[in-house]
Amino acid sequence: MPTVTMIGGGQLARMTHQAAVALGQRLRVLAERPDDPAAQVTPEVVLGAHTDLAALRKAAVGSHALTFDHEHVPTEHLETLVAEGVNVQPPPGALLYAQDKLAMRRKLAELGVPVPPFTAVESAADAIGFGDEHGWPFVLKAVRGGYDGRGVWMIDDRAEAETVVADQLAHGVVLLAEQKVDLKRELSAMVARSPFGQAAAWPVVETVQREGQCAVVIAPAPELPDARSAEATELALRLAKELGVTGAMAVELFETHDGRLLVNELAMRPHNSGHWGMDGAVTGQFEQHLRAVLDYPLGDTSPLAPVTVMANILGAETAPEMTMDERLHHLFARMPHARVHLYGKGERPKRKIGHINILGDDVAEVREQAERAAHWMSHAIWTDGWDPHE
Ligand SMILES: Nc1ncnc2c1ncn2[C@@H]1O[C@H](COP(=O)(O)OP(=O)(O)OP(=O)(O)O)[C@@H](O)[C@H]1O
Ligand SMILES: [Mg+2]
Repeated sequence: MPTVTMIGGGQLARMTHQAAVALGQRLRVLAERPDDPAAQVTPEVVLGAHTDLAALRKAAVGSHALTFDHEHVPTEHLETLVAEGVNVQPPPGALLYAQDKLAMRRKLAELGVPVPPFTAVESAADAIGFGDEHGWPFVLKAVRGGYDGRGVWMIDDRAEAETVVADQLAHGVVLLAEQKVDLKRELSAMVARSPFGQAAAWPVVETVQREGQCAVVIAPAPELPDARSAEATELALRLAKELGVTGAMAVELFETHDGRLLVNELAMRPHNSGHWGMDGAVTGQFEQHLRAVLDYPLGDTSPLAPVTVMANILGAETAPEMTMDERLHHLFARMPHARVHLYGKGERPKRKIGHINILGDDVAEVREQAERAAHWMSHAIWTDGWDPHE
């Protein structure tokens, strides 16, 4: 059976390993530290940095496909690996559009895909000019390397533009500015595509962000008209094909108040907006990603319940005294149907340390349960004051 190498040892690699086990495969990871979430569980760990070509080569030796749990590997290293015969999936020419927000915005604009107005920012004057033309506040972004809202700034006025731009440029950060979209909500259209060209799409989901970070995902997106859902899915399938994407891809979308869909960004790997499918779909994203990068036929993406809600377990400001183990006991006692996924990560404020999936029939009810369960796991507090000893 094949070995797949995943660059990065985070929770996405950990959950991909979990899927690999069921398929009789091995997932080798390139992890920074032995206690990274995936390095704790897979026997094949190469320790090293994703920016180190020697480490990347070592991780790639003998593997059938090399893929990613994040998008931060330098493109030139990937080109080198490809030239040396490594089967990199997605190929670097496609991955670029998940790595570089400016290249992505330009490419999508060229393909006629709706994106917010944007510009490259090389000076504070560029940023101020953009704000004056497209309205304040606007959004300033690091072109590369951001995640979970790190690398995204809402710029209110000229003074803020001056300071933030100067500070980031001084640190060598390449920047872009884009219009702040008056959004109704955020959606994600997830698909997977194989090198052969087969593609499959999951239902379009709603993603709820708090403080720039995904908190909750509702699958399928409630009250999304069929036509808009089809538009989002077709857009994602078209992008996967035109960009030559392989593996799983999430297209993060803004739905505007006037019913338009704009692309926010692309992720070419398993994505937080696909975690619901581990329990809520016939084939989840982790197995699908493996199937896709290995060019197997893809799995059925049908949902298993009318609604699945995923809520992230985020590290609390101060970690509760109650151990995670004890919290889990209490959660299971109250909600035997909750599907829990913990990443083996230490509790730090706002850090994604796990997630909960709940399947059911009623969106409001399922969402309330999922959020209550996740809050319990983060804080050891039941938001409705429930006390097991009463
Ligand atoms: N142009 C915009 N208009 C309004 N809100 C925006 C805009 N761009 C980003 N945001 C908000 O900031 C969040 C994070 O932005 P973005 O997805 O670009 O950053 P990221 O850090 O790469 O994200 P991720 O958490 O997906 O890794 C978005 O999900 C959205 O809530
Ligand atoms: Mg994002």
